[in-house]
Amino acid sequence: MSKRISGFSKLSKEEKLRWLNDNYLQPASGSDEVLKHFWLEDNPTQKIIDGFSENTVSNYILPYGLAPNFLVDGKLYCVPMVIEESSVVAAAAAAAKYWLDRGGFKTTILGTTKIGQIHFKWSGPKTILEEVFEDIRTKLLQGAAPITQNMEKRGGGVVKIELIDFNGHEAGLYQIRVYFDTKDSMGANFINSVLENFAATLEQYFVNEDRIPDHFRDVDVIMSILSNYTPECTVRAEVSCRVDVLGTFSNGMMAEQLAEKFRMAVRIAHIDPYRATTHNKGIYNGIDAVVLATGNDFRAIEAAGHAYAARDGQYRSLSNCEVSDGLFRFWLEVPLAIGTVGGLTVLHPLAKKSLGILGNPSAQELMRIIASVGLAQNFAAIKSLVTTGIQKGHMKMHIMNILNHLQASDEEIRKAIQYFEDKTVSFTDVRDYLLELRQY
Ligand code: MEV
Repeated sequence: MSKRISGFSKLSKEEKLRWLNDNYLQPASGSDEVLKHFWLEDNPTQKIIDGFSENTVSNYILPYGLAPNFLVDGKLYCVPMVIEESSVVAAAAAAAKYWLDRGGFKTTILGTTKIGQIHFKWSGPKTILEEVFEDIRTKLLQGAAPITQNMEKRGGGVVKIELIDFNGHEAGLYQIRVYFDTKDSMGANFINSVLENFAATLEQYFVNEDRIPDHFRDVDVIMSILSNYTPECTVRAEVSCRVDVLGTFSNGMMAEQLAEKFRMAVRIAHIDPYRATTHNKGIYNGIDAVVLATGNDFRAIEAAGHAYAARDGQYRSLSNCEVSDGLFRFWLEVPLAIGTVGGLTVLHPLAKKSLGILGNPSAQELMRIIASVGLAQNFAAIKSLVTTGIQKGHMKMHIMNILNHLQASDEEIRKAIQYFEDKTVSFTDVRDYLLELRQY
Protein backbone atom coordinates (compact mmCIF):
# COMPACT_ATOMS: atom_id res chain seq x y z
CA MET A 1 0.00 0.00 0.00
CA SER A 2 2.89 2.39 0.71
CA LYS A 3 3.70 2.32 -2.99
CA ARG A 4 0.34 3.88 -3.79
CA ILE A 5 0.69 7.40 -5.16
CA SER A 6 -1.61 10.24 -6.20
CA GLY A 7 -0.61 13.01 -8.56
CA PHE A 8 2.18 10.97 -10.17
CA SER A 9 1.66 12.68 -13.53
CA LYS A 10 2.30 16.08 -11.90
CA LEU A 11 5.80 15.10 -10.74
CA SER A 12 8.78 16.21 -12.82
CA LYS A 13 10.74 13.55 -14.68
CA GLU A 14 13.46 13.63 -11.97
CA GLU A 15 10.85 13.27 -9.23
CA LYS A 16 9.21 10.36 -11.03
CA LEU A 17 12.57 8.60 -11.29
CA ARG A 18 13.38 9.26 -7.66
CA TRP A 19 10.01 7.80 -6.66
CA LEU A 20 10.63 4.79 -8.92
CA ASN A 21 14.06 4.31 -7.41
CA ASP A 22 12.78 4.48 -3.87
CA ASN A 23 9.81 2.21 -4.43
CA TYR A 24 10.56 -0.31 -7.13
CA LEU A 25 14.20 -0.41 -8.17
CA GLN A 26 16.38 -0.71 -5.10
CA PRO A 27 17.63 -3.25 -4.30
CA ALA A 28 15.55 -5.56 -6.49
CA SER A 29 16.64 -4.39 -9.92
CA GLY A 30 19.34 -1.75 -9.54
CA SER A 31 19.00 2.01 -9.99
CA ASP A 32 17.50 4.14 -12.74
CA GLU A 33 20.81 4.57 -14.61
CA VAL A 34 19.68 2.68 -17.71
CA LEU A 35 16.52 4.75 -17.91
CA LYS A 36 18.56 7.95 -17.65
CA HIS A 37 21.03 6.70 -20.23
CA PHE A 38 18.38 6.53 -22.96
CA TRP A 39 16.83 9.84 -22.08
CA LEU A 40 17.99 12.50 -24.56
CA GLU A 41 19.22 15.12 -22.14
CA ASP A 42 19.42 18.65 -23.64
CA ASN A 43 18.00 17.39 -26.94
CA PRO A 44 14.88 19.13 -28.30
CA THR A 45 13.68 15.78 -29.70
CA GLN A 46 13.10 14.57 -26.14
CA LYS A 47 10.36 17.15 -25.70
CA ILE A 48 8.67 16.00 -28.91
CA ILE A 49 8.88 12.33 -27.92
CA ASP A 50 7.53 13.11 -24.45
CA GLY A 51 4.53 14.71 -26.10
CA PHE A 52 3.46 11.39 -27.63
CA SER A 53 2.68 9.71 -24.34
CA GLU A 54 2.35 10.26 -20.60
CA ASN A 55 4.54 9.77 -17.54
CA THR A 56 7.60 9.24 -19.74
CA VAL A 57 10.91 8.70 -17.94
CA SER A 58 13.05 7.28 -20.76
CA ASN A 59 12.99 6.10 -24.39
CA TYR A 60 12.87 2.48 -25.50
CA ILE A 61 15.18 1.90 -28.42
CA LEU A 62 14.72 -0.64 -31.19
CA PRO A 63 16.95 -1.45 -34.18
CA TYR A 64 16.28 0.63 -37.31
CA GLY A 65 17.38 -1.34 -40.40
CA LEU A 66 17.23 -0.98 -44.17
CA ALA A 67 16.03 -3.47 -46.77
CA PRO A 68 17.21 -2.28 -50.20
CA ASN A 69 16.27 -3.53 -53.70
CA PHE A 70 12.49 -3.46 -53.34
CA LEU A 71 11.14 -3.09 -56.86
CA VAL A 72 7.48 -2.11 -56.46
CA ASP A 73 5.50 -1.24 -59.60
CA GLY A 74 8.74 -0.46 -61.42
CA LYS A 75 10.15 1.86 -58.73
CA LEU A 76 13.15 0.86 -56.63
CA TYR A 77 12.88 1.46 -52.88
CA CYS A 78 15.18 1.11 -49.91
CA VAL A 79 12.76 0.27 -47.11
CA PRO A 80 13.36 1.30 -43.48
CA MET A 81 12.27 -1.33 -40.96
CA VAL A 82 12.05 -1.10 -37.17
CA ILE A 83 12.03 -4.53 -35.53
CA GLU A 84 13.64 -6.33 -32.61
CA GLU A 85 13.62 -9.83 -34.17
CA SER A 86 16.78 -11.07 -35.83
CA SER A 87 16.69 -12.34 -39.43
CA VAL A 88 13.56 -10.36 -40.41
CA VAL A 89 15.34 -7.52 -42.22
CA ALA A 90 17.86 -9.93 -43.76
CA ALA A 91 15.01 -12.12 -45.03
CA ALA A 92 13.09 -9.14 -46.45
CA ALA A 93 16.22 -7.88 -48.21
CA ALA A 94 16.98 -11.33 -49.62
CA ALA A 95 13.41 -11.76 -50.93
CA ALA A 96 13.48 -8.25 -52.41
CA LYS A 97 16.70 -9.06 -54.28
CA TYR A 98 15.32 -12.41 -55.43
CA TRP A 99 12.21 -10.78 -56.94
CA LEU A 100 14.17 -7.82 -58.29
CA ASP A 101 15.62 -10.26 -60.81
CA ARG A 102 12.15 -11.64 -61.61
CA GLY A 103 10.11 -8.51 -62.33
CA GLY A 104 9.57 -7.22 -58.78
CA PHE A 105 6.28 -6.66 -56.94
CA LYS A 106 3.08 -5.55 -58.70
CA THR A 107 0.39 -3.94 -56.60
CA THR A 108 -3.24 -2.83 -56.87
CA ILE A 109 -5.11 -0.55 -54.50
CA LEU A 110 -8.47 -2.29 -53.93
CA GLY A 111 -10.02 0.53 -51.87
CA THR A 112 -9.26 3.41 -49.51
CA THR A 113 -12.52 3.77 -47.61
CA LYS A 114 -12.47 3.86 -43.81
CA ILE A 115 -15.40 3.35 -41.46
CA GLY A 116 -16.74 5.04 -38.34
CA GLN A 117 -19.74 4.13 -36.21
CA ILE A 118 -22.29 5.80 -33.96
CA HIS A 119 -24.00 3.19 -31.82
CA PHE A 120 -27.31 4.36 -30.34
CA LYS A 121 -30.51 3.12 -28.78
CA TRP A 122 -33.96 4.38 -29.63
CA SER A 123 -37.21 2.77 -28.54
CA GLY A 124 -39.54 4.33 -31.15
CA PRO A 125 -40.97 2.57 -34.22
CA LYS A 126 -38.35 1.74 -36.81
CA THR A 127 -40.63 3.06 -39.60
CA ILE A 128 -40.34 6.60 -38.22
CA LEU A 129 -36.56 6.35 -38.08
CA GLU A 130 -36.47 5.16 -41.67
CA GLU A 131 -38.80 7.96 -42.72
CA VAL A 132 -36.63 10.70 -41.21
CA PHE A 133 -33.24 9.18 -41.95
CA GLU A 134 -32.69 11.03 -45.23
CA ASP A 135 -33.29 14.27 -43.34
CA ILE A 136 -30.95 13.15 -40.51
CA ARG A 137 -28.24 12.45 -43.08
CA THR A 138 -28.52 15.99 -44.48
CA LYS A 139 -28.45 17.54 -40.99
CA LEU A 140 -25.43 15.47 -39.96
CA LEU A 141 -23.45 16.66 -42.98
CA GLN A 142 -24.53 20.28 -42.50
CA GLY A 143 -23.59 20.22 -38.82
CA ALA A 144 -20.13 18.79 -39.48
CA ALA A 145 -19.31 21.09 -42.42
CA PRO A 146 -16.82 23.21 -40.41
CA ILE A 147 -14.87 20.01 -39.62
CA THR A 148 -15.11 18.37 -43.04
CA GLN A 149 -14.44 21.34 -45.31
CA ASN A 150 -10.63 21.12 -45.20
CA MET A 151 -10.68 17.39 -45.91
CA GLU A 152 -13.13 18.05 -48.77
CA LYS A 153 -10.68 20.57 -50.25
CA ARG A 154 -8.13 17.73 -50.31
CA GLY A 155 -10.64 15.53 -52.16
CA GLY A 156 -11.73 13.49 -49.13
CA GLY A 157 -14.51 13.62 -46.55
CA VAL A 158 -17.66 11.65 -45.78
CA VAL A 159 -18.45 9.22 -48.59
CA LYS A 160 -21.62 7.49 -47.37
CA ILE A 161 -23.90 7.30 -44.32
CA GLU A 162 -26.00 4.20 -43.58
CA LEU A 163 -28.48 3.22 -40.90
CA ILE A 164 -28.00 -0.32 -39.60
CA ASP A 165 -30.62 -2.11 -37.54
CA PHE A 166 -29.37 -4.27 -34.65
CA ASN A 167 -32.83 -4.90 -33.16
CA GLY A 168 -32.32 -8.59 -33.87
CA HIS A 169 -29.51 -8.60 -31.30
CA GLU A 170 -30.76 -6.02 -28.82
CA ALA A 171 -34.13 -4.22 -28.75
CA GLY A 172 -33.81 -0.63 -29.97
CA LEU A 173 -30.14 -0.89 -30.96
CA TYR A 174 -29.03 0.89 -34.16
CA GLN A 175 -25.83 2.04 -35.74
CA ILE A 176 -25.07 4.90 -38.07
CA ARG A 177 -22.19 3.65 -40.18
CA VAL A 178 -20.16 6.39 -41.83
CA TYR A 179 -17.72 5.80 -44.69
CA PHE A 180 -14.77 8.15 -45.06
CA ASP A 181 -12.00 8.98 -47.48
CA THR A 182 -9.17 10.60 -45.51
CA LYS A 183 -6.71 10.94 -48.43
CA ASP A 184 -3.08 10.86 -47.22
CA SER A 185 -3.84 11.01 -43.52
CA MET A 186 -4.62 7.99 -41.38
CA GLY A 187 -7.55 10.14 -40.33
CA ALA A 188 -8.37 8.77 -36.88
CA ASN A 189 -8.76 12.22 -35.29
CA PHE A 190 -10.74 13.53 -38.23
CA ILE A 191 -13.10 10.53 -38.22
CA ASN A 192 -13.65 10.63 -34.45
CA SER A 193 -14.29 14.39 -34.48
CA VAL A 194 -16.85 14.03 -37.27
CA LEU A 195 -18.55 11.13 -35.48
CA GLU A 196 -18.84 13.00 -32.17
CA ASN A 197 -20.25 15.99 -34.03
CA PHE A 198 -22.74 13.72 -35.82
CA ALA A 199 -23.79 12.20 -32.50
CA ALA A 200 -24.54 15.64 -31.01
CA THR A 201 -26.55 16.58 -34.12
CA LEU A 202 -28.48 13.30 -33.88
CA GLU A 203 -29.51 13.96 -30.28
CA GLN A 204 -30.55 17.49 -31.20
CA TYR A 205 -32.56 16.23 -34.16
CA PHE A 206 -34.68 13.98 -31.96
CA VAL A 207 -35.44 16.89 -29.64
CA ASN A 208 -36.45 19.32 -32.42
CA GLU A 209 -38.00 17.29 -35.23
CA ASP A 210 -41.82 17.47 -35.48
CA ARG A 211 -42.15 13.97 -36.92
CA ILE A 212 -40.69 12.44 -33.72
CA PRO A 213 -43.49 11.75 -31.20
CA ASP A 214 -42.88 13.52 -27.87
CA HIS A 215 -42.61 10.27 -25.90
CA PHE A 216 -39.78 9.10 -28.22
CA ARG A 217 -37.56 12.19 -28.09
CA ASP A 218 -34.80 10.52 -26.08
CA VAL A 219 -32.08 8.95 -28.16
CA ASP A 220 -29.33 7.24 -26.21
CA VAL A 221 -25.97 7.54 -27.95
CA ILE A 222 -23.83 4.70 -26.58
CA MET A 223 -20.57 5.63 -28.32
CA SER A 224 -19.06 7.14 -31.45
CA ILE A 225 -15.75 5.79 -32.69
CA LEU A 226 -13.92 4.75 -35.86
CA SER A 227 -13.69 1.08 -36.68
CA ASN A 228 -10.22 -0.38 -37.02
CA TYR A 229 -11.70 -3.03 -39.28
CA THR A 230 -11.04 -1.61 -42.74
CA PRO A 231 -11.94 -4.30 -45.31
CA GLU A 232 -12.52 -1.55 -47.88
CA CYS A 233 -9.09 0.01 -47.39
CA THR A 234 -7.03 -2.79 -48.89
CA VAL A 235 -4.15 -3.43 -51.25
CA ARG A 236 -2.94 -6.44 -53.22
CA ALA A 237 0.75 -7.16 -53.80
CA GLU A 238 1.80 -9.91 -56.16
CA VAL A 239 4.89 -11.64 -57.51
CA SER A 240 4.94 -14.13 -60.36
CA CYS A 241 7.32 -15.87 -62.71
CA ARG A 242 7.61 -19.03 -64.76
CA VAL A 243 8.26 -22.01 -62.49
CA ASP A 244 11.56 -22.85 -64.20
CA VAL A 245 12.77 -19.29 -63.50
CA LEU A 246 12.41 -19.86 -59.74
CA GLY A 247 15.91 -21.44 -59.79
CA THR A 248 17.37 -24.16 -57.60
CA PHE A 249 17.36 -24.05 -53.84
CA SER A 250 19.24 -25.20 -50.74
CA ASN A 251 19.46 -28.98 -50.44
CA GLY A 252 19.48 -29.05 -54.27
CA MET A 253 15.70 -28.67 -54.42
CA MET A 254 14.48 -28.09 -57.96
CA ALA A 255 12.10 -25.32 -59.03
CA GLU A 256 9.07 -27.59 -59.66
CA GLN A 257 9.37 -29.23 -56.26
CA LEU A 258 9.85 -25.89 -54.54
CA ALA A 259 6.79 -24.43 -56.28
CA GLU A 260 4.61 -27.37 -55.26
CA LYS A 261 5.83 -27.46 -51.65
CA PHE A 262 5.43 -23.69 -51.44
CA ARG A 263 1.86 -23.85 -52.80
CA MET A 264 1.06 -26.60 -50.30
CA ALA A 265 2.52 -24.56 -47.42
CA VAL A 266 0.20 -21.66 -48.28
CA ARG A 267 -2.73 -24.06 -48.71
CA ILE A 268 -2.10 -25.47 -45.22
CA ALA A 269 -2.35 -21.93 -43.86
CA HIS A 270 -5.79 -21.69 -45.52
CA ILE A 271 -6.93 -24.97 -43.99
CA ASP A 272 -5.54 -24.78 -40.44
CA PRO A 273 -5.90 -21.69 -38.18
CA TYR A 274 -2.93 -22.79 -36.03
CA ARG A 275 -0.64 -22.61 -39.05
CA ALA A 276 -2.46 -19.56 -40.44
CA THR A 277 -1.67 -17.58 -37.29
CA THR A 278 2.07 -18.25 -37.57
CA HIS A 279 2.00 -17.72 -41.32
CA ASN A 280 0.29 -14.33 -40.92
CA LYS A 281 2.57 -13.43 -38.01
CA GLY A 282 5.45 -13.79 -40.47
CA ILE A 283 3.68 -11.40 -42.86
CA TYR A 284 3.28 -8.88 -40.02
CA ASN A 285 6.98 -9.18 -39.16
CA GLY A 286 7.49 -7.20 -42.37
CA ILE A 287 4.36 -5.06 -42.31
CA ASP A 288 4.70 -3.91 -38.69
CA ALA A 289 8.38 -3.06 -39.16
CA VAL A 290 7.59 -0.57 -41.93
CA VAL A 291 4.43 0.66 -40.23
CA LEU A 292 6.50 1.41 -37.12
CA ALA A 293 9.36 3.00 -39.08
CA THR A 294 6.91 5.37 -40.79
CA GLY A 295 5.16 6.42 -37.57
CA ASN A 296 1.90 4.57 -38.23
CA ASP A 297 -0.29 2.65 -35.78
CA PHE A 298 0.79 -1.01 -35.88
CA ARG A 299 -1.93 -2.14 -33.45
CA ALA A 300 -4.62 -0.81 -35.76
CA ILE A 301 -2.97 -2.43 -38.77
CA GLU A 302 -2.64 -5.81 -37.05
CA ALA A 303 -6.19 -5.75 -35.64
CA ALA A 304 -7.59 -5.05 -39.11
CA GLY A 305 -5.44 -7.72 -40.73
CA HIS A 306 -6.40 -10.48 -38.33
CA ALA A 307 -10.10 -9.61 -38.55
CA TYR A 308 -9.78 -9.63 -42.36
CA ALA A 309 -8.06 -13.01 -42.22
CA ALA A 310 -11.18 -14.37 -40.49
CA ARG A 311 -13.72 -12.66 -42.75
CA ASP A 312 -15.36 -15.89 -43.97
CA GLY A 313 -15.74 -17.20 -40.42
CA GLN A 314 -12.43 -19.08 -40.19
CA TYR A 315 -9.02 -17.53 -39.61
CA ARG A 316 -6.93 -18.14 -42.75
CA SER A 317 -3.78 -17.12 -44.58
CA LEU A 318 -3.73 -13.57 -45.92
CA SER A 319 -1.60 -14.73 -48.84
CA ASN A 320 -2.41 -17.04 -51.73
CA CYS A 321 -0.35 -19.15 -54.10
CA GLU A 322 -1.22 -20.69 -57.45
CA VAL A 323 0.90 -22.88 -59.69
CA SER A 324 -0.68 -23.50 -63.07
CA ASP A 325 0.38 -23.70 -66.70
CA GLY A 326 4.02 -23.45 -65.62
CA LEU A 327 3.42 -20.14 -63.84
CA PHE A 328 4.11 -19.48 -60.14
CA ARG A 329 1.88 -16.74 -58.64
CA PHE A 330 2.02 -15.57 -55.05
CA TRP A 331 -0.04 -12.69 -53.71
CA LEU A 332 -1.21 -10.99 -50.56
CA GLU A 333 -4.34 -8.97 -49.89
CA VAL A 334 -4.32 -6.86 -46.72
CA PRO A 335 -6.18 -3.95 -45.18
CA LEU A 336 -3.72 -1.09 -44.55
CA ALA A 337 -5.25 2.07 -43.11
CA ILE A 338 -2.09 4.16 -42.91
CA GLY A 339 -1.15 7.79 -43.40
CA THR A 340 1.78 9.79 -44.66
CA VAL A 341 0.74 13.23 -43.41
CA GLY A 342 -0.12 14.44 -39.93
CA GLY A 343 0.37 12.81 -36.55
CA LEU A 344 3.57 10.99 -35.73
CA THR A 345 4.57 10.85 -39.40
CA VAL A 346 5.67 14.47 -39.20
CA LEU A 347 6.50 14.79 -35.53
CA HIS A 348 8.78 11.82 -34.97
CA PRO A 349 12.17 12.65 -36.52
CA LEU A 350 12.79 9.04 -37.56
CA ALA A 351 9.30 8.55 -38.98
CA LYS A 352 9.85 11.68 -41.05
CA LYS A 353 13.25 10.39 -42.14
CA SER A 354 11.74 7.01 -43.13
CA LEU A 355 9.17 8.72 -45.34
CA GLY A 356 11.99 10.79 -46.84
CA ILE A 357 13.97 7.61 -47.61
CA LEU A 358 10.86 6.25 -49.36
CA GLY A 359 10.58 9.44 -51.42
CA ASN A 360 7.73 10.97 -49.37
CA PRO A 361 5.05 8.64 -50.73
CA SER A 362 1.31 9.24 -50.76
CA ALA A 363 -0.72 6.98 -48.45
CA GLN A 364 -1.60 4.76 -51.43
CA GLU A 365 2.04 4.44 -52.46
CA LEU A 366 2.99 3.54 -48.90
CA MET A 367 0.21 0.90 -48.85
CA ARG A 368 1.79 -0.63 -51.97
CA ILE A 369 5.27 -0.65 -50.40
CA ILE A 370 4.12 -2.11 -47.09
CA ALA A 371 2.10 -4.89 -48.73
CA SER A 372 5.13 -5.79 -50.86
CA VAL A 373 7.31 -6.05 -47.76
CA GLY A 374 4.68 -8.27 -46.10
CA LEU A 375 4.64 -10.52 -49.16
CA ALA A 376 8.46 -10.59 -49.33
CA GLN A 377 8.62 -11.58 -45.66
CA ASN A 378 6.08 -14.34 -46.19
CA PHE A 379 7.95 -15.56 -49.27
CA ALA A 380 11.25 -15.69 -47.39
CA ALA A 381 9.74 -17.55 -44.44
CA ILE A 382 7.97 -20.18 -46.55
CA LYS A 383 10.99 -20.66 -48.82
CA SER A 384 13.14 -21.36 -45.73
CA LEU A 385 10.52 -23.56 -44.10
CA VAL A 386 10.09 -25.85 -47.11
CA THR A 387 13.83 -26.08 -47.84
CA THR A 388 16.36 -25.76 -45.02
CA GLY A 389 14.03 -24.88 -42.13
CA ILE A 390 14.32 -21.52 -40.40
CA GLN A 391 16.61 -22.49 -37.57
CA LYS A 392 19.75 -22.44 -39.69
CA GLY A 393 19.41 -18.72 -40.48
CA HIS A 394 18.02 -17.87 -37.06
CA MET A 395 20.80 -19.68 -35.26
CA LYS A 396 23.47 -17.66 -37.04
CA MET A 397 21.92 -14.49 -35.63
CA HIS A 398 21.19 -16.13 -32.29
CA ILE A 399 24.81 -17.19 -31.74
CA MET A 400 26.00 -13.68 -32.67
CA ASN A 401 23.64 -12.17 -30.09
CA ILE A 402 24.97 -14.56 -27.42
CA LEU A 403 28.61 -13.93 -28.38
CA ASN A 404 28.11 -10.17 -28.30
CA HIS A 405 26.40 -10.45 -24.95
CA LEU A 406 29.41 -12.42 -23.63
CA GLN A 407 31.74 -9.78 -25.15
CA ALA A 408 33.56 -12.31 -27.33
CA SER A 409 36.58 -11.06 -29.32
CA ASP A 410 36.69 -11.29 -33.13
CA GLU A 411 38.88 -14.39 -32.87
CA GLU A 412 36.53 -16.05 -30.36
CA ILE A 413 33.55 -15.24 -32.62
CA ARG A 414 35.29 -16.85 -35.61
CA LYS A 415 36.12 -20.00 -33.64
CA ALA A 416 32.67 -20.26 -32.02
CA ILE A 417 30.82 -19.89 -35.33
CA GLN A 418 32.97 -22.61 -36.84
CA TYR A 419 32.49 -24.87 -33.82
CA PHE A 420 28.68 -24.45 -33.71
CA GLU A 421 28.25 -24.79 -37.49
CA ASP A 422 26.75 -28.29 -37.11
CA LYS A 423 25.56 -28.06 -33.50
CA THR A 424 22.46 -26.76 -31.74
CA VAL A 425 23.06 -23.33 -30.24
CA SER A 426 22.08 -22.64 -26.64
CA PHE A 427 23.23 -19.86 -24.32
CA THR A 428 24.77 -22.34 -21.86
CA ASP A 429 26.65 -24.26 -24.55
CA VAL A 430 28.08 -21.06 -26.08
CA ARG A 431 29.06 -19.71 -22.65
CA ASP A 432 30.74 -23.00 -21.69
CA TYR A 433 32.56 -23.12 -25.02
CA LEU A 434 33.89 -19.57 -24.51
CA LEU A 435 34.94 -20.33 -20.93
CA GLU A 436 36.87 -23.32 -22.20
CA LEU A 437 38.49 -21.26 -24.97
CA ARG A 438 39.49 -18.58 -22.50
CA GLN A 439 41.20 -21.12 -20.23
CA TYR A 440 43.86 -21.81 -22.83
C1 MEV B 1 8.96 -16.00 -37.20
O1 MEV B 1 8.96 -14.72 -36.61
C2 MEV B 1 8.01 -16.04 -38.36
C3 MEV B 1 7.81 -17.41 -39.01
O2 MEV B 1 7.43 -18.36 -38.00
C4 MEV B 1 6.72 -17.26 -40.03
C5 MEV B 1 6.25 -18.57 -40.63
O3 MEV B 1 6.34 -19.61 -39.98
O4 MEV B 1 5.73 -18.50 -41.77
C6 MEV B 1 9.08 -17.91 -39.62
